[in-house]
Formats: sequence, C-alpha cells, structure tokens
Amino acid sequence: MTNSDELLFSTCVSGRIDDGVLVVTIDNPPVNAASAAMRAGLLGAVHAANNDGSVKAVIVTGNGRIFVSGADIGEFGKPPVDPSLPDVLEAIEQSAKPVIAAINGAALGGGLEIALACHYRIASPAASLGLPEVKLGIVPGAGGTQRLPRLTGLAVALDMIANGRAVKAAEALASGIIDAIADNPLADALGKLKSDEKPSFRKTSDLAVQAESTDKLEPIASKIRSRARGLAAPLEAVRLVLASATTAFHDGLADERNTFIRLRESAESAALRYVFFAEREAAKVDGVKDVAPRSVKKIGIVGTGLMGSGIVVSALDAGYHVTGVEQTDEAAQKGLERIVGLLERNLKSGRIDEAGLAARLSRLSVSGDFAGLADADLVIEAVFDEMAVKTGLFRRLDGIVRPDAILATNTSYLDPDLIAAATQYPERVLGLHFFSPANIMRLLEVVRCARTTPDVLATGLAVAKKLGKLAIVSGVTEGFIGNSIFSAYRREAEFLVEDGASPEAVDAAMEDYGMAMGPFAVFDMAGLEIAWARRKRQAATRDPSARYVDIADRLCEAGRFGQKTGRGWYRYENGKRQVDFEVAEMIDQARSSKGIVPRLVAAKEITDRLLAAMASEGKRLLGTGVAARAGDIDLVMINGYGFPSHKGGPMYQAGLADSPAI
Ligand code: 3HC
Repeated sequence: MTNSDELLFSTCVSGRIDDGVLVVTIDNPPVNAASAAMRAGLLGAVHAANNDGSVKAVIVTGNGRIFVSGADIGEFGKPPVDPSLPDVLEAIEQSAKPVIAAINGAALGGGLEIALACHYRIASPAASLGLPEVKLGIVPGAGGTQRLPRLTGLAVALDMIANGRAVKAAEALASGIIDAIADNPLADALGKLKSDEKPSFRKTSDLAVQAESTDKLEPIASKIRSRARGLAAPLEAVRLVLASATTAFHDGLADERNTFIRLRESAESAALRYVFFAEREAAKVDGVKDVAPRSVKKIGIVGTGLMGSGIVVSALDAGYHVTGVEQTDEAAQKGLERIVGLLERNLKSGRIDEAGLAARLSRLSVSGDFAGLADADLVIEAVFDEMAVKTGLFRRLDGIVRPDAILATNTSYLDPDLIAAATQYPERVLGLHFFSPANIMRLLEVVRCARTTPDVLATGLAVAKKLGKLAIVSGVTEGFIGNSIFSAYRREAEFLVEDGASPEAVDAAMEDYGMAMGPFAVFDMAGLEIAWARRKRQAATRDPSARYVDIADRLCEAGRFGQKTGRGWYRYENGKRQVDFEVAEMIDQARSSKGIVPRLVAAKEITDRLLAAMASEGKRLLGTGVAARAGDIDLVMINGYGFPSHKGGPMYQAGLADSPAI
C-alpha cells in the first residue's frame, strides 16, 4: 500500500497509509462501541497490514472524543456474530507488524482491552482508562483480567477490575498501563515511528505477572468480596485476576471468556444493562430537546439546615458561587459552621485537598441578609416543609431576586404549584427535590410544575448534571415519584405486620432480597413524625372503608419517633438496633383490637407483596403522567431508596418496563 486515499475496512473502520504506517481510525458514533462491524473492520485492517510488505507498523485510534467505549452493549442479547473481540485481539497481539494504540479519549471495557493487546500505548492527558464491566454484571471478556495484571501487578488490577474503577492517563502511566502521554497521541505515534529511537514494542501476554504477597492482596480482595453483597461479577473478577499469576495466559483467557459468557446471560447482568440504558433514556425529557438552558453561575440557597447545607456543599463541589441565607445572623453562623464541617470531613477523607477547600470557601458566603440573593441566577429553598412558610418565602423572594432568576423548591410533600402561585412569575418555579445527605445522594427529582417553562426545566436539568446528579423529571403529585412509591411500600409493610409478620422479619426479607435496609429500619432512620403528621392531615378525607393500620400512630403517641429518640419500630442502644418487646406487645394489641389472628407470613410473600405494591403505585404514576417512563421510576427507587440495581427496580421486576433488546 502506498500513501493513499481512505481505505475502508468496514462501515466504521477506515485506514490511510502515512509513510508506510497504516493509520486505522474507528468511527462508530456516538461512542465508538466495538460492534460486529467494528470488530470485522479492525481484523481486516490487521490482516491487510500483515499481507502488505510495504506496511511497517499500524496505529489504531478513534475518531472524536472517545477511543472505544467497549463492547456494544446493545448486542449482548442477540446471537453472537464473528469475529469475536478476543479473536481480533489475538490477531493484533500476534501481528508481525507492531501495533500502537493512540488513545485519543476514553478507553473503556473492550476499548481498553484493544489497547492492552497492542504493542505500545500512547494516551491523551484527558483519556480515562478502565474496565467497568462489573457494573454491568459481567467480567471483562477479551483479556482484561489476564493482560492488565501483567502490566500493573495484581493489586492495581484487582482494584480497577473488581471495583470497575477507571483511571486518568497520569495514573495509567504511573501504574504501567500506558507507555506515554501526548496531547495528540496519533501525531506522537507517527513521530515516534519516524524517529531513529523506535518505541520498545512488546506483547503484553509475554510478560510475567509479578508475585505479590498475600498480605498485600488479601485485604483488597476481602474488601471487594464484602462490598459485593452476593453479586457474582466482582467475585469472579477477583478469582480471574488472581488466577492470572498462576495460570498459563491462554488458559486464563479461556476461563475469562467462559465466565464472561455465563455472566452475560445472567439475570443480574440483564438488569444492570437495563439500568444503564434507562439512565440514558431518563436524560431525554419531553419538551426540552433543543431548548437552551439559562446560564447559572451563582446559586442562592435559603435555609442552611441539614438539607440546605448539603445542597450548598454539592453546589460548591460543582464549582458554583453560592450564597446561603438564613433568617438571622446567628442561624447563618450555625449554617456556616455546618457547611465548613461537611467540607472538612471531605478534606479528612481525601475527597478534596487543602486547595480545593480554599477554593470552595472563596466561592461561599452565608448571612442573615436576604439582599445577598439579589444577583443569584437560581435560588433553591430548603426551609421548613410547611405551606405557609414556603409561600411566604417565595412572595418575599419576588421582591429581592432578579425577574429572570429561577426559583426552586425542595419540598418533599407540598404542592409546588401552590408554592409557585404565591409568586408573581410562577413560570420560573420548579421543584428540585434533593435526597439527604444532599452532597452524597445521586438522585435529584426535578419537578415540572404546571407553569414551569421549558427553559426553566432545561436549566434545572443542566444544573443537576453539573452537580453530578441523576436527574429524574417528575410531575406534580403528593410525594412526587419516590415518596409516592415509598408511601405504598410503607402501607403494605404495615399490612404485613398486622397480618402476622414481625417488623424484623419484613426487614430481613427485604434485606435478603437486596434492599440496602429493610423498610422499618428506614422508617426509624428517617423519623416517624413526618408520616404521622401527613396521616393526621389526611384523616378527614381518608376513605373510611380503606384498610388503615394505626400501629405507627400508637408508636408516635408513645413518643417513639425512631432512631433520634432511641425508640421507634426498634429500640436503639449505643446506636445498635434491637428488637423491642414493647413494640411486639403494641402490635399484638393492634391486631386483637381488629380481631386479626396473626398468621405466619413467609419471606416470599413479604417480598412479593412489597414489590407488587411498589409496581402498582408505579403504574398509577405512569397512568397519570407523573412519571414519563417505567425506567425513571426504577432509577428513583435504585438511587434514592436503596433498591438493588442488579434487580433492575420494581417496574422491571413486574415486567412493566419496556427494556431495549438486552
Ligand atoms: N455500547 C452500546 N451503546 C453505548 C455504549 C456501549 N458500550 N456506551 C454508550 N452507549 C450509548 C448510550 O446508550 C447512548 O445512546 P443514546 O444516545 O441512544 O442514548 C450513547 O452511547 C451516548 O452515551 P452516554 O450518554 O453515556 O455518553 P457520555 O458521553 O455521557 O459517556 C461513556 C460516554 C463514558 C462511554 C459512557 O457511555 C459509558 O460509560 N459507556 C459504557 C462503558 C462500558 O461499560 N463499557 C464496557 C462494556 S462491556 C465490554 O466492553 C465487554 C468486553 O470486556 C468484552
């Protein structure tokens, strides 16, 4: 081949000859996934180079901001098409002509595996490299578990593969994954091939895995095992990485491939892939496509209590200028201390460094003067969740903020349309429902009120993205998506107790199912008084024929508000949760007052009924248009309420989710 026009190896892999070097470009938008056409093209390119005496080397690179995002996840549920990725990588590694990976951007999963099979790797400074397969319930399937430890050693490979942790180029260089960093990896690769000092090419599979002591490896492996909470993929990843030190390379590869195929067919992986695509779908919001968000640089936050201070920290972390406002200077001082406390905790844990702390503090002011909100682009209120308090505040804000500033309410249960109606410009109001602790929790319900304009909603979504949150749009209903479903869950959990199950049996069944915590432990943690107040509010309008369990009311009347009072559904001693016989007695009394003879309730009935209750409320939310998609509901439950992601969510479990071909 001579210096030439474009050579086409498949629909998404092209090449050109540059001074005897075959430059192969992968161009498979949007993320250069390793689809069947991409694999065939890459294999064709390697064969072409090896069959042509004039080609002395090959460079593989990606078009756009990504090298290769990994295997095409959408193909997983379909019959396999040759060539497989391992076959392509075998051809690359055994190629008589050296192959350089010019890693122009993210190299993830099969993308990094392609690079690992090359004989030299140059990455751009911004590239991230990782094997995130465990997050999809699988292990790397094209040599990742066998090649990575040959470059980095076992400890680094265990951490990266079993935790699915990606690293940036600098860390990749330090740990031996890549050989060089360059602003333009392709130009650098061409330059290196033309220079007299050729790069030192090597086959990764020829390297020996360095021995590392059990003392070093075992704590890493046992931490991964305990975090896996019964999930298969991280455990298999640990096994395969450790085996790389004692198994012949090709035997290790075969074991890895078989494990990958087995896990790819598991229910766990199907659910996690569904969650992956649901997250991408959730970002596509009706009515805001192509709507430009307003510019937000400064955020005002009214109320710096537990929730408000978490929101402040989240906004500071994202780089915003933040003004916190309180009713009095004294309350402002307390709020500032709370915020600084949170930031210092992050400094101590290594999440931020001294410079990061100083930068955040330089963008923060907290005071008792509402005039500080005059130049805010967005004001979020996190004050007491009572209608009169919120409407009074919004009316007051009208006279302070700019007419084009956006106002957001963090209400959990109140009607944001009524809050919006208190202002002169209700079209600039939306809900931003954070979850506590707001600087940690990934979920943010973005509430579209009756009069919210598309650009205001688009701004809410853009801010959520910058905050690093998963935004799920909800319509207006009491409790929005999450708390509506949680109320149905609570109701059914209480029915189960009245029928004969103990709170601890309900909790155990749900924890065994995979929930982060059982419902009654959660109620105690959140506090029982808010739901009690709601029940009292609703008492007058409640359907008298509907089943109503009053045990939680009795607990509250006895001052048992949950963990904060040391007693709730459980008793707490030194922070430890314990079964309380006083509660068992109260439950017995409640049953006998209704003439209910308690019966044995099996764990399966508990999980079945609780899942069904969530799904049926989810169906109602879809029917009323409060939730746009079943996937949105599942994401809310996974990211805000501890539902296990490897089960896909209550809608997915009930067969109510329209999952793509996975
Ligand atoms: N396969 C198929 N489609 C993919 C994909 C993949 N590996 N990765 C992303 N996509 C799709 C998304 O579904 C989305 O599609 P849409 O526009 O129709 O909704 C589109 O690409 C853009 O994705 P994002 O919105 O996520 O784009 P970002 O720019 O925010 O992020 C990314 C890009 C960092 C590459 C991110 O998409 C990502 O993390 N992808 C998954 C990476 C991964 O898990 N790779 C491992 C796959 S398994 C594997 O490789 C097995 C191997 O070992 C054999």
